[in-house]
Amino acid sequence: MILRVENLSKEFAIEFDILGRPVKFLKAVQDVSFTVEEKSVFSIVGESGSGKSTIARILCGIYKPTTGSIHFMGSPLKRSGQIQMVFQDPESSLDPRKTILFSIEEGLRIHRVANREERKKLVYETLRAVGLTEDVLWKYPHQLSGGQKQRVAIARCLVLKPKLLILDEPTSALDVSVQAQILNLLMDLKQSYSLTYILITHDLKIAYHISDQTMVMYLGQIMEMGKTQRILEEPLHPYTKALVAAIPTLETDKLKDFSLKGEIPSPLNPPEGCPFRTRCDFAFSKCGEKPPLIDFRGRKVRCHLYTEV
Ligand SMILES: Nc1ncnc2c1ncn2[C@@H]1O[C@H](COP(=O)(O)OP(=O)(O)OP(=O)(O)O)[C@@H](O)[C@H]1O
Ligand SMILES: [Mg+2]
Repeated sequence: MILRVENLSKEFAIEFDILGRPVKFLKAVQDVSFTVEEKSVFSIVGESGSGKSTIARILCGIYKPTTGSIHFMGSPLKRSGQIQMVFQDPESSLDPRKTILFSIEEGLRIHRVANREERKKLVYETLRAVGLTEDVLWKYPHQLSGGQKQRVAIARCLVLKPKLLILDEPTSALDVSVQAQILNLLMDLKQSYSLTYILITHDLKIAYHISDQTMVMYLGQIMEMGKTQRILEEPLHPYTKALVAAIPTLETDKLKDFSLKGEIPSPLNPPEGCPFRTRCDFAFSKCGEKPPLIDFRGRKVRCHLYTEV
């Protein structure tokens, strides 16, 4: 096991009184626990606002958790180069005024890695690993294609020799034709650099094809979690069923009655009890109470349909 997250919660203060004291909070992540095995792919799926990126940012040290603990390679998580993040939009992770060489080398300087010669060697090595040639080094981000920029963003992380890469929608800003290339590259790099991935995606097809474990989130909470194949081939939670039913290529005939209705409730004012009950066809009186996350048919699920069977 490379990562153990226990009872992680994150609240954002979003309203303050005139003395600057927080008076209103948004619960972005609530009591989330999971473990990630070394060299595996762990995907986090769920609609917008479910807390996926917040978890990613906590793991990278960008946000401090409100409560909970994180152990990385056996010790409490500290900020290091060993967890790196690839963002959805390669544009935002590259400084438009800096050359590609500068951007890739930057982390090495910040983390005081190596002397100049060694840094240069690492940069060239990494550049080749992500399928780019040296001529891009003196270019600026605007001179590269979307796919090339994402390769640079990946190189920026890789050069620091991380153990864990967090991929937050790594291909969703790219053309469809380029998406597969970047995914293939990521899978090759995982092998050659012995990496572990946390993959955040809206695209359950991608999660299905490349991940070992899947965690389904809704309004900051885990709805269902376990082996990807299990979760996506035989989803139990009505929310997971609706997400799976929307994937055109999976075997979803038996789920044809499921779909996502209505809007996601405001995270500022989430439903009491099960957060999904306002959109769930199976909601019954008990759903006004918060369901526990229970072990059921080889996975974890948070739904009253399974709490008393
Ligand atoms: N810095 C912040 N301050 C206040 N609220 C925030 C902050 N960051 C995120 N949130 C809120 O926390 C909730 C979870 O956001 P998060 O970005 O983690 O969702 P997500 O699952 O990544 O969504 P998406 O799929 O749209 O990227 C949202 O309601 C969001 O508005
Ligand atoms: Mg996000």
